[in-house]
Amino acid sequence: MIRRRTFLAGLSLGCASLMVGCATKTSRMSAVGQEELRPLPIPPLADSSLGQGRRVFPLHIQRGTFEILPGKHTPTWGFNGPFLGPTVRISRGEKVDLVVSNDTDEDTAVHFHGMLLPADMDGGPHSAIAAGESWTSSFTVEQPAATLWYHPHAHGKTGLQAYRGMAGMIIVDDEISAALELPNTYGVDDIPLVLMDANFHEDGSFDETLDPVLGLQGTVILVNGISGAKFDASTNRVRFRILNGSNMRFHNLALDDDREFAIIATDSGFLAKPRMVRNAQLGPGGRVEIVVDLKPGETIALMSKGFADNLGVPEDANAPDFKLQEQNQLLAIHALGQGGELPPLPTVLDDSADAPLDLEGAIHRSFELDTFSINGQQMDMSRVDFLIDHSLPEVWTVTNGNSDWIHNFHIHNSSFQVLEISGTGVEFDVFGWKDTVTVPPGATVKLAVLFGQYRNNHYPYMYHCHMLYHEDSGMMGQFMMVNKGEIAQLDTAFTRHHHH
Ligand code: C2O
Ligand code: CU
Ligand code: CU
Repeated sequence: MIRRRTFLAGLSLGCASLMVGCATKTSRMSAVGQEELRPLPIPPLADSSLGQGRRVFPLHIQRGTFEILPGKHTPTWGFNGPFLGPTVRISRGEKVDLVVSNDTDEDTAVHFHGMLLPADMDGGPHSAIAAGESWTSSFTVEQPAATLWYHPHAHGKTGLQAYRGMAGMIIVDDEISAALELPNTYGVDDIPLVLMDANFHEDGSFDETLDPVLGLQGTVILVNGISGAKFDASTNRVRFRILNGSNMRFHNLALDDDREFAIIATDSGFLAKPRMVRNAQLGPGGRVEIVVDLKPGETIALMSKGFADNLGVPEDANAPDFKLQEQNQLLAIHALGQGGELPPLPTVLDDSADAPLDLEGAIHRSFELDTFSINGQQMDMSRVDFLIDHSLPEVWTVTNGNSDWIHNFHIHNSSFQVLEISGTGVEFDVFGWKDTVTVPPGATVKLAVLFGQYRNNHYPYMYHCHMLYHEDSGMMGQFMMVNKGEIAQLDTAFTRHHHH
């Protein structure tokens, strides 16, 4: 089995001649106040219309150009616009139709990451949308408030299509989120931050060269689609919903003065109570919601501070450099608000987040992640790895069999809690309800997994590494949620040529 040191280093991309500073291992002097910073773009809220008791959202995938780097016009992909996508805001209990039309010249698929929904509405690779065609995901929102996202899931092409700009946020609201005294005015004090990174050619076009170890890891960090962003905060308390939409990069988020901030939610929704921290770690695909308190007039910066322990990846010449120790400024934040005391944050967010799980008699499964495979197998769209025919939690044990690769495991149609970590001395964030989890080299994480309750023996759900180059290279498997006694009858007409 290929373990390590087969695909080797020797490929440092170097900093090229970009106008945007390249990060270094030593802290780049805080760029706060720099004149060349541009205002943070805020993705618009997605338009919808009401019809027959359903909310219908058109999501039109199109090509365009976008000024990602100042003065350069990059050919890009986006939803309802040239680059990235609008924020889809939906409420628990609503019936929604997400109508995805594909105006690119490639097949794609659009997945709703973190949603609990029927397998044929999940947007996995089995629900491919041919160029020029459309596909509708219809479901009822049946989960707690959370920050989720949508992104491509085309077989073997997810990384590239995401890199070109196919990503947007989903905000699920519920009665709890509506009642909490938290910043919640979208674009004012409730701010989406979509983190990505990219490499560019001199003319501003994307460099889509795949590195044999890092895939499409970029050297330039983008926040909501631009490099070098600043945000003028009109309030003294700001909530940031942060999505790591990058292909391959892990972030260790902090404020430049190392002040405390509150984490209020992880991937799948609120914590039971705010957690005061100085760092928040986010692997590819993950989300975190934080609340930052500002002093009127000050300027601070949200940083990606790097992982001092390199997340357990050896720092020798043979191990890949996942750029885990880079430091980058993500966003300058300038507080324009007036004086005045801020009220304390709510002491309780969502009590039920702490409710004990009953794992008596739970089914256990084990997964070994190893280079581009899981349990020794690579993704095969026509193989269903296992069936789940009950509605109880399961215990999944996920091991990283690589000694110098890092992975970030994700399960569709689920949320989980990390029960236990072993095999590593590295510390990393595992609290709260999640749908992605970092697995450092050699580590084992034990998860208590809850699944959505739909049944369909024709369509599978995926589990995979969310480092998109790993996923596209085969590190993915499929499970089905079926009624007791049903067998898998996989629908193998993978690409839909629906009416327009
Ligand atoms: Cu973001 Cu298959 O997932
Ligand atoms: Cu997903
Ligand atoms: Cu991986």
